[in-house]
Amino acid sequence: MDKFVIEGPRTLSGSLTVGGSKNTALPLMAAAVLAEGTTRVTNVPDLRDVHTLSKVIRVTGPDVTVRPDEHAIEINASTVDEPVAPYELVKKMRASFYMLGALVGRCGRARVSLPGGCAWGPRPVDLHIEGMKQFGAEIELDEGYVVAKATGGRLSGGTFRMEPSSVGATVNLLLGAVTARGGSKIENAAMEPDVVAFGEALKKMGAQIDGLGTRTIEIQGVDALTPIEVRNTPDRIEMGTFMILAAMAGEPGEPFEINNGNHEHLGQAFKDYFRGTGAETKYTDEGAVVTPPETVTPVSIRTETYPGFPTDLQAQWTVMLATADGEATVTDTIYDDRFKHVPELQRLGIDVTVDGNAATVRGGQPIKGAQVMSTDLRASVSLVMAGIVASGRTDVLRIYHLDRGYENLATKLRSAGANIERQQYDEFAEPERKA
Ligand code: UD1
Repeated sequence: MDKFVIEGPRTLSGSLTVGGSKNTALPLMAAAVLAEGTTRVTNVPDLRDVHTLSKVIRVTGPDVTVRPDEHAIEINASTVDEPVAPYELVKKMRASFYMLGALVGRCGRARVSLPGGCAWGPRPVDLHIEGMKQFGAEIELDEGYVVAKATGGRLSGGTFRMEPSSVGATVNLLLGAVTARGGSKIENAAMEPDVVAFGEALKKMGAQIDGLGTRTIEIQGVDALTPIEVRNTPDRIEMGTFMILAAMAGEPGEPFEINNGNHEHLGQAFKDYFRGTGAETKYTDEGAVVTPPETVTPVSIRTETYPGFPTDLQAQWTVMLATADGEATVTDTIYDDRFKHVPELQRLGIDVTVDGNAATVRGGQPIKGAQVMSTDLRASVSLVMAGIVASGRTDVLRIYHLDRGYENLATKLRSAGANIERQQYDEFAEPERKA
């Protein structure tokens, strides 16, 4: 396995560049399955999740060519003749469940494995399944698989209200509804920029969709979609991660650039909270320029659906609070128990405690290097950020989680002044005896 070895503390300077969005690339890839012919997506990050979904799509028939050097992916979906997404692949990544909508939309039937557990508690797919039923699919569960069939090979369409609002269920229902025989309505739909960009791409392919970016999306089914070339959006979570890192580890008073980001996708709540930290921020067409404060002002946050503060940035915010002058709380209203990183942060000397769905951080304690374990994607990057400001050596183990969502992270961070290296290690090696 691989780990990061980080020597700190280091002050970062210069710039960091944001890659293409993982959470937009995945639905764009699923959309390609709907259209006969080759769809090309550019600005696709070279990430493990993208490779996993490529494999899932290949199983169903299409040719998928990943071009990491060009950050492009080509999906030739002329043939989709095996509408199955196997457990072996779906268990690696929940977004593989998008194949349910994509395959029902294209073939009128699908056999897709249930995703199973997740590092931070139950993440159900009941809304995906219930919505598909409301849109006319017959659904059975068979040996861990969801088996869906649309009478006559196409969904009929219908109305579905989701509670809570779900990114994944909105994507899946859009995938199914765009080729339905009739019209569909999704109420309390996700408004996340990832969903909007994906919906815009579907429209470019010929889908008829109204209300993207609002809570009510209406779809009028069409007979078929056509393949397109589409540019993926920048990763808003990577942009937010880099902004938080700049505020906590940058040179106070020295502007730090975040390039290739789209600040409009951050959402107003993040921007407002971020301003409260004392980091001066100028948003530009290129991204953002963050001038770190002398000391971060502690700001409590609550995660909400877009345009609220993203749950995918709460672990990073927690680490920034450890460098702040005072106490603040991070409350996650999307996931109740997304705090597996907290015991790891405690190993670094960070004074943080969890009560229910909230973590309280008392900043200003010395942060000292230690061995810590990645538990999930965003938690892992928070450990790396802590390692950069910690004194001494931090080993972040099991970084395969991180490879799911951050491309070339060590190289990027080194270019901004971090002392971070990727090393292989044996997880089961006996500890060395200290003389
Ligand atoms: C997506 C993102 C993930 C992010 C999350 C919330 C992708 C690939 N992943 O995940 O990074 O953390 O949005 O912004 O885009 N829910 C149900 N039943 C369902 C589906 C969801 O109760 O059938 C609940 C979930 O438990 C959660 C809430 O709805 O409390 C939102 O989850 P959802 O938006 O579906 O997250 P994902 O699409 O899985």
